[in-house]
Amino acid sequence: MFISFFIVSAYLIGSLSFAVIVSRLFGLPDPRKHGSGNPGATNMLRTGRKSAALLTLVGDMAKGWLAVYLARYFGSQYGVEIAATYGAAVAVFLGHLYPLFFGFKGGKGVATALGILLAISPWLGLATLASWLVVFVLTRISSLAALTAATLAPVLGTYLIGGALPVVALCIISALIFWRHRTNIRRLLAGEEGRFAKPADTSS
Ligand code: G3P
Repeated sequence: MFISFFIVSAYLIGSLSFAVIVSRLFGLPDPRKHGSGNPGATNMLRTGRKSAALLTLVGDMAKGWLAVYLARYFGSQYGVEIAATYGAAVAVFLGHLYPLFFGFKGGKGVATALGILLAISPWLGLATLASWLVVFVLTRISSLAALTAATLAPVLGTYLIGGALPVVALCIISALIFWRHRTNIRRLLAGEEGRFAKPADTSS
């Protein structure tokens, strides 16, 4: 009973698609019809408004963090901490991917997953973020950085947290990130995935 309350609440929090909300606030094109078509911070960056991209990143991360934090806090009061935490982790993530409020057309989940990881364990979140940063700085390809981080997160989670439920939840989230990046994966394999220009590079 309590568990379903945490799961439904987390799903609804995840359904707040910040790329769409922020684009409306800033009067920008709908990210679902612009650039890659993905309602996420990376695609918001393609509008040229860094502040809108940053706000999307923070919003999508914060909702992942908040849903897990609240589920763990209240779950511990009722003796269902682990189930509530990891149930909420998967539910908020699914909310971002398939948002109730935005026609079930959500994003790829990278920022929300980072918020979830930081709430589960700051070290897990920071180590995963570090892997994203290293790959992004080396390649300037956001999707490749995300796929690398998604591969490492369950491995890091196994060492840093352990336990069947946490590892299963992390594997589900990572598998969904791969599924949502299937078009990016095809482009990566074909050598056609777009790169972000280096800060000093103004040629593109
Ligand atoms: O975080 C999403 C990123 O990995 C890929 O986004 O817009 O390049 O498909 P995009």
